[in-house]
Amino acid sequence: MALVLSPAKLVLLAVHYAVKADMDSLTILAARHDTILRKELLLRIILTYLPETLQSNKYVAFLEQLEKGELPDPSSKDVDASSVESLSEDEATKRVRKLRLLPLKTNDTPVGADDDPISLFLIQRAYKVDEEAGLLNELPSLLLPFLDHSSYVRTLLVSTILPLLRRNVEYHPEEPVQYTLSAFQQLPDRVAVNLLLSQTGVREEDLPFVGRDLRGLVGPWLVDEKKWRKRRQSTTHTDGEDDDGICPGCDEVLRWITTQAAKNWKVAVSAVQQWAGPADADLASWGVLELTKEQHEHVEHAYAQAALASAYFISETSAEALEGAYSMVAKVADIRDLEPLPPLSSALAILPPLAEQIAGDITSSRNPTYLRNNPLSCSNALTTPSNATVAFLEALVLSAHILTKAGCPSTVRRAGELALLQDEREQKAEATKFIHAISNNGPKSDDKYWMRARNEVLWLRSWGSEEASTQIPPKGIFSQLKPEFLEVEFLKALLSNTRYNLARSLYEDESDHPLDRKLLQETIYATAMTAYDNASNPNRTRGGLKKCDEIIKALPNTIAKTDPIARRTESLLKATHALSEYRLVLKQGEPFTPIVLRVHKDPISIIGKILEQNPKSYTRLQDFLDLGKRMVQAGLTSHDKSKGTTFLTPEEEANHISTAERRIAAMCIDAALTEDDFETAYSYVVNRLGSLSAPSANIQDDYSWKAALQAGKYRRTARTVRPTHLGHSSANADIRHLEQRIECLATALRIAPPPTLQEILNAFRRAEEELDAALKAEEEQEEEWDARGDTMHGMPGGFNTTIPTTSGKGRRSSTSAGKSSSRREQQEEAPMSLFDLARASGLTAQRNISALSGLQRAATGLIGGGGGGNGARSTTPGPGRNSSDSTHASEHQQHSLSGSVSSLEGGEEHKRARKRDQLREAAMSGLVSGVGWLVGAPGPTAPARE
Ligand SMILES: *[C@@H]1O[C@H](CO)[C@@H](O)[C@H](O)[C@H]1NC(C)=O
Ligand SMILES: *[C@@H]1O[C@H](CO)[C@@H](O)[C@H](O)[C@H]1NC(C)=O
Ligand SMILES: *[C@@H]1O[C@H](CO)[C@@H](O)[C@H](O)[C@H]1NC(C)=O
Ligand SMILES: *[C@@H]1O[C@H](CO)[C@@H](O)[C@H](O)[C@H]1NC(C)=O
Ligand SMILES: *[C@@H]1O[C@H](CO)[C@@H](O)[C@H](O)[C@H]1NC(C)=O
Repeated sequence: MALVLSPAKLVLLAVHYAVKADMDSLTILAARHDTILRKELLLRIILTYLPETLQSNKYVAFLEQLEKGELPDPSSKDVDASSVESLSEDEATKRVRKLRLLPLKTNDTPVGADDDPISLFLIQRAYKVDEEAGLLNELPSLLLPFLDHSSYVRTLLVSTILPLLRRNVEYHPEEPVQYTLSAFQQLPDRVAVNLLLSQTGVREEDLPFVGRDLRGLVGPWLVDEKKWRKRRQSTTHTDGEDDDGICPGCDEVLRWITTQAAKNWKVAVSAVQQWAGPADADLASWGVLELTKEQHEHVEHAYAQAALASAYFISETSAEALEGAYSMVAKVADIRDLEPLPPLSSALAILPPLAEQIAGDITSSRNPTYLRNNPLSCSNALTTPSNATVAFLEALVLSAHILTKAGCPSTVRRAGELALLQDEREQKAEATKFIHAISNNGPKSDDKYWMRARNEVLWLRSWGSEEASTQIPPKGIFSQLKPEFLEVEFLKALLSNTRYNLARSLYEDESDHPLDRKLLQETIYATAMTAYDNASNPNRTRGGLKKCDEIIKALPNTIAKTDPIARRTESLLKATHALSEYRLVLKQGEPFTPIVLRVHKDPISIIGKILEQNPKSYTRLQDFLDLGKRMVQAGLTSHDKSKGTTFLTPEEEANHISTAERRIAAMCIDAALTEDDFETAYSYVVNRLGSLSAPSANIQDDYSWKAALQAGKYRRTARTVRPTHLGHSSANADIRHLEQRIECLATALRIAPPPTLQEILNAFRRAEEELDAALKAEEEQEEEWDARGDTMHGMPGGFNTTIPTTSGKGRRSSTSAGKSSSRREQQEEAPMSLFDLARASGLTAQRNISALSGLQRAATGLIGGGGGGNGARSTTPGPGRNSSDSTHASEHQQHSLSGSVSSLEGGEEHKRARKRDQLREAAMSGLVSGVGWLVGAPGPTAPARE
């Protein structure tokens, strides 16, 4: 039945069917009234009123029929027009006016698409379905039938809907992109890429799908022409020159990859491993990416460059990350048909000679900037793929890997900076750190490990160029360091890890001798000292000292036992070991460690500390003298002891030893006095200092005379250690003590420098007066005693001499004052009579006159108005004195003497005159009034010699 409806009512009816999604009725209506319901009008009605939620397959057939102009009209069917029949025409016209049908063309309509209503409709419809219903997944079935209809439809489907659909529905539905279709299309490339890939490789389990994402999201997205720069409108395209930036869209993808390298390297590595570049696209068979040869070449080149740049950008310092970097380099070599890379493990094993392949312009000093800037620029000399850049990067990855594996974590870029900046200090620091790490972290007892480590150290410098055969400077990350430096550091590591045999075979036995003898010696010595300095225990059979001992003996053909270095070290070890027997704290609370001895400014003073901290240790004088000698022989007293291989001359050494011995004896004397052991102090004075020659110009000795003087000034107290071999006679002991003190003072006089003589003489005089008084008192007491005619028993005054006096008369000289043994003998033999004592004092004095001969001569010269150059008046010569003794007199004294003499003869310098004055004063006030009788004046008792 033919319906007769006005055009307005027809339109309203069509709208009605559209709203009801009654496609069958609409089809019939449209078929029957095609003059009014024309294609464009129908498309606008559907666009505006067909529900967006309607499945595409419900109306795609209609669109196809409409497009072809073949809407079917089954005459058997009728349409229901009841919805519009009752309307008045006016009402119908009014309603049509209010329909507000959407236009097919909008401002966004792509230029060139505007002549095709179906394409325009499909695009608008797609946007609306997405926006109003969110049914992105309905769009393929809507658009697919029209793929060949228009490139705009195809682009929309393949380049936008496909990626978004995969991204939001298939790949990462949990985190969909929240943009509408049209909004997404408007986004700048960078934002779009980052959105598409925002979930790519985010979780560890996503990593295997990074390639899928790139292929499935980015691949289709790049199909859009807009992602490619329009070629210049020139028919004759000059190939190659225009290539840079051909595909801004690709550039964004590549930038994304390099950014990932810095942030999350595993994503970048997965990308390069799983994706072959922009040409590697999965378009779901909805299209093909058609690239020209130049475009293809361009994107492949750019992709390879991005892969190299990514290797530089990896910021994690793990072996795994570096393995990833290596795989990227290998991939680049592969896709660009460059020199292929061996597997990483074999590269690390063979350490390939890469230096030859690295052209000089790569290691140019202009290039460090490219490590950080413009990674994807075609002017970047480091990332532009070539055999040279690949070899350079391979070398850097291997270098960083070697460092990292050893325990010095390094990035590719860090290795690149070392190689390119060529800063010697930086390289040195890194090399030292590296060798240190080798030394600390490896399987130390495995010689193979060490051999390999050495090869690595040397390779890092040269990257495999043959040292001898090339004039070209080395290019590696240690390029500025001398091979000797590396060898020395390595040898130190070997030795401190007790790899002595290997050290011997590498540095002593090999014919090429990597280190010359002198450097080798210095290195061994330095390492031995490092072990020494690290020691905490001064016992040489343990820890650091033991190691020091082993190291110094490790290369016997280089440092023989008899070598001065070996001897010096032996002395050092002996000296240190000797200290282990004592309690010794130098700084508050800190126990002594060997290094303290080695660096001490005044090592001999440590003996003073021992004496302070170890009661009675002063009795071990000989041990301390040996110790002092060792210290000198160990070089500890030389001023530039930091230089291990400079030595004292034998003469200097003898002088240092002599100085040390004098000082140590003096220290022991002081310590003995401090502990009130006068007897020991006295015995040291007479035995040690008494035999000393006066100090010479080369021997500084301000200690001996002071010690002798201290002993001479010592006064007995209750605390004084009693001589074990004497009786209890206090008077006897007092006199004996005074004699001993005088003897000490006499020693002091003999060895002291002239300016100090006055002080000693004063002490001498006082002691002498005391002795005088003591003798007198004794005499009086004896007289009183004789007068009483009493027996010896019960005598007051402490003379309880009950020892038989049988041998008393025939005793030998009781007065060999310096020899305590003979004194003991004397004491044990017989009681000492007062007369004997007096005589003894005189004799002691007489005998010691000779010791004062220099002084005496001076005095004689002064008092007697100059007795001539020889000076010495013939006085009673003491035993052991002879004429040659005058030549043994101290230089000071000889100077004094000759000075005074020569000044008398002709007048000399002021200085000598002053000395003479001092001497005169000493002689006048001291010698004449006090001990004058000692110097030759007739004594109170006649000297009796036997
Ligand atoms: C790179 O090296 C390979 C293999 O040695 C060689 O075949 C190729 O020609 C080289 N490429 C260039 C650009 O020099
Ligand atoms: C230093 O001493 C410590 C322990 O005292 C030891 O573990 C370390 O290996 C020593 N270092 C060297 C270089 O000898
Ligand atoms: C040194 O060490 C050895 C071995 O540990 C030990 O037998 C010896 O007594 C120590 N010597 C001293 C003086 O401590
Ligand atoms: C005093 O004379 C004795 C005997 O000759 C000698 O052993 C001693 O060293 C002398 N003392 C001094 C201080 O010269
Ligand atoms: C003197 O010696 C006698 C006999 O050995 C002894 O009994 C007496 O106590 C002694 N006197 C003194 C003061 O030591």
